[in-house]
Amino acid sequence: MIRFGVLGSGKGSNLRALAEAFQSGILGAKPVIVISDVEHAGILDLARDFEIEGHFVSPGPFLTKMTPEAEGEVVRLLTEAKVDFIVLAGFMRVIKEPLLKAFPARIVNIHPSLLPAFRGLEAWRQAIEAGVSEAGCTVHLVDSGVDTGKILGQSHVPVLPDDTSELLHARIQMAEHELYPRIVREFAEQLHGEGKMKNEK
Ligand code: GRF
Repeated sequence: MIRFGVLGSGKGSNLRALAEAFQSGILGAKPVIVISDVEHAGILDLARDFEIEGHFVSPGPFLTKMTPEAEGEVVRLLTEAKVDFIVLAGFMRVIKEPLLKAFPARIVNIHPSLLPAFRGLEAWRQAIEAGVSEAGCTVHLVDSGVDTGKILGQSHVPVLPDDTSELLHARIQMAEHELYPRIVREFAEQLHGEGKMKNEK
């Protein structure tokens, strides 16, 4: 079975969707480790509930990235856990060279907009402020930019006349929980088909 690691900073609702899809036997890949840059993040509690190995890695002094040492520690943990690819699920720091080099074209992210629209923070708020009638979420490969990598899949949701950014965010998240397991499954199938998994047993 192909193995993946999950990186997240928040409550972990996407981890829940992925772990439930794995438990139902429809994911085709197993979440084996969860790493957070936030010591008491909900995603680490959730990892415990799903009996997935969880780790906090102190990110260092910068707000938007980890130090190279911290990222090196993340690479070490993921390598030790024998993961084939990485899923970012609400990880709030930009991924830098240590991880990108260790897992080239093997890191996926979910972003709460229809990329390339509304890159960066609070994309649902950007959508409301821009007055668009449609929003959504995008799963993409991670490269050295912010929300710029190859798009793997998207899901659309309407923006309703009385929407607040909270209501729209909740609607987008529901779409995320359906989209992410589907695209992760396809990604794992593709790695498998290409014989590219490093650690399949
Ligand atoms: C999601 O909305 C995702 O699009 C963004 O961060 C949020 C993570 O939420 N990248 P959760 O921690 O998975 O609940």
